[in-house]
Amino acid sequence: MKIQSLISERRIKRKVKELAEEISWDCRNKDLLLLGILKGSFVFLADLMRTLEIPAECDFLKVRSYAGDKSSGKIRIDFLPSLKKRDVLLVEDIIDTGLTINSIKEEIKKQKPRSLKLCSLLNKPARRKQKVKIDYLGFEVPDKFVVGYGLDYEEKFRNLPYVGIYPVK
Ligand code: IMP
Repeated sequence: MKIQSLISERRIKRKVKELAEEISWDCRNKDLLLLGILKGSFVFLADLMRTLEIPAECDFLKVRSYAGDKSSGKIRIDFLPSLKKRDVLLVEDIIDTGLTINSIKEEIKKQKPRSLKLCSLLNKPARRKQKVKIDYLGFEVPDKFVVGYGLDYEEKFRNLPYVGIYPVK
């Protein structure tokens, strides 16, 4: 199946560089931990981390919340590393309803990190149910189901180098 391109590989590359420069400057005096939310963020996080100009560590959260293309809003974090006194930058693939990321933030705050910020590759504001503060954003996308560059439809298309629209019926 051919997936229609929405955001090209070249645009993504340029944006990752911009975000990495901004984060590198803002976090130059921090003990930065990139905390990726699996699986959707792993491609973005890998590119972002390699483009940063400052030292950074990474870790990942596995969250169960999603089946097919509907957000349940209920999450369970399978593994949460110790975040006490860390400068945490959550790295997410897409903010849709906002329910997942807000629940994750609540869980993380219980661990008392020194700082907590959010970087998301994509934002789909049309379906927002809860307000979300995105500190670093790549692109806004329309109310379509998008795949590629880490994002999937039933585990497929994560390997596309661009973001495209999946034709959900
Ligand atoms: P939210 O709780 O509705 O904000 O859902 C967030 C999660 O749903 C994201 O981290 C994705 O894993 C998934 N998701 C939401 N919209 C899309 C999409 O268009 N394509 C692929 N995954 C999506």
